[in-house]
Amino acid sequence: MRYFLPIWILIVAVSIGVLGFRESVLRKPPIEVFPDMDRQMKFRPQVPNEFFRDNRASRLPASGTVARSEPRRNVAGGAVVYSYEDHPVNSGKMTGTTNWVELNPTVIDAQSMARGRQRFEINCLPCHGPLGDGNGVTKKLGMAVVATLHDPRIVKMSDGELFHVISNGRNLMGPYASQLAVEDRWAVISYLRALQFSRLGSLEDVPAQFRASLNK
Ligand code: HEC
Repeated sequence: MRYFLPIWILIVAVSIGVLGFRESVLRKPPIEVFPDMDRQMKFRPQVPNEFFRDNRASRLPASGTVARSEPRRNVAGGAVVYSYEDHPVNSGKMTGTTNWVELNPTVIDAQSMARGRQRFEINCLPCHGPLGDGNGVTKKLGMAVVATLHDPRIVKMSDGELFHVISNGRNLMGPYASQLAVEDRWAVISYLRALQFSRLGSLEDVPAQFRASLNK
């Protein structure tokens, strides 16, 4: 019973504190603990705003803004494909299925090859090496298991699966979706195919009049 009085006073004070003054009008403004939440500078749409020289609060998009309605570049056959569509260009899979597309669905020309080479040498070369044989500089630094891209399993892999590996990574390899735009990933695949092809040629691929000089 020794603590009855203090506890009773506490209960009364808390009850009045929580319930007592509700709905009553106070003359003094309440204490604002975080005034920046109540009062903040902001732009209201369609209202003049002195911050900008032309006094308009509604701003135009920054120059160079890419609209979501901008179609993908370089789709084979000139098809118009948007970034949100279920299309091989975006997913590496055949539309409506989970099967990889066999062939690169973008235009393969000298320009995309050059772009692919440049992107490959920036993003892939450190690990896979300039020839794609897995002898990049990271091997010397201790990353022992970098895949050679001339492995028959990877040569046979569909372009769609390569797109998936570049976009999402696989095992020890990290994803490159944030470094490489979709079009650039396909360009890298085109260049990677050229690298692989450079090692798969046989004597029959060489025109007859040059074969003799090769044998020397
Ligand atoms: C940081 C190092 C690194 C970089 C950069 C890198 N890779 Fe790899 N990559 C690896 C390693 C390690 C593996 C082996 C993964 C495993 O099997 O554990 C691999 C595996 C692969 C494979 C085979 C996947 C499989 O199914 O076995 C492909 C294809 C590939 N990389 C393509 C690329 C391409 C294209 C790029 C450039 C966009 C790239 N890599 C950049 C480290 C890297």
